[in-house]
Amino acid sequence: MKTIKPPLVLYNALKKSRLSGSSIGFVPTMGALHAGHISLIRQARQENAIIVVSIFVNPAQFGPKEDLKKYPRPLNKDLALCRKERVDFVFLPSIKDIYSEDFSTYVSVEKLSGVLCGIARPGHFRGVATIVTKLLNIIQPDVIYLGQKDAQQAIIIKKMARDLNIPVKVKIMPTVRQSDGLALSSRNAYLDKKERLDALVLSKALSLAKLLVNSGAKSPLRIISRMKQLISRKKNARIDYIAIVDAASLKPVRKISGECLIALAVRIGRTRLIDNIIVRV
Ligand code: PAF
Repeated sequence: MKTIKPPLVLYNALKKSRLSGSSIGFVPTMGALHAGHISLIRQARQENAIIVVSIFVNPAQFGPKEDLKKYPRPLNKDLALCRKERVDFVFLPSIKDIYSEDFSTYVSVEKLSGVLCGIARPGHFRGVATIVTKLLNIIQPDVIYLGQKDAQQAIIIKKMARDLNIPVKVKIMPTVRQSDGLALSSRNAYLDKKERLDALVLSKALSLAKLLVNSGAKSPLRIISRMKQLISRKKNARIDYIAIVDAASLKPVRKISGECLIALAVRIGRTRLIDNIIVRV
């Protein structure tokens, strides 16, 4: 496994593989790797000759009051995990390598970025789309692997690749959960014992929604209201949003039909968690 910092060095290291037709699989991360990331890396390992994992805590996707400073950075542990998973290259760019002092070019995916998490986190998806575009330019992978847990991010990256003719296949892998249902997230590390228990309310609300849909419920408003009731029983939980939207356009649906994304963001104490499921009717 090679650890590379300068973008051009990685670009050149991958040139040979690109020219010889070896497929390159890419898993972008901000580090603090967990089983969700590992599942992406394993899928990439199965499907490609060369695997690249990037670890970069991207300042452009954090708002001024967000957790950029305290975001976990267990680099040695992350590198050990990558080595164990037989990653070929770990890309560890410096902030300066990515954002020069006079940096002024951003990628913004309109409409899709202004809904759901985009409301409470203005500029977040612009930061994500910009860094992913830069990483795709440097690495030029055949396939990028993303998790369903960040459904809106995955949809935005898919749209961005299509809109900008970036020749990459976007693969979205299922959310990995702990045995009690909590979706894995690097931010779970912020939860204390009590909050960790309260956080189960997200997956429980989604299970309730699924149950209602499976028993024939068609009204998003009613389903959302039942989810709100369940979540409001937890004193420590503050709903940011609960939405039932078309799984491709992210537009709210009037009736449950086709493929719908049921997504929510809830603050447990000071930690904002997200989760979602897709229902097909
Ligand atoms: O999902 C993440 O960890 C980040 O948003 C990503 C895709 C690595 C971009 O910084």
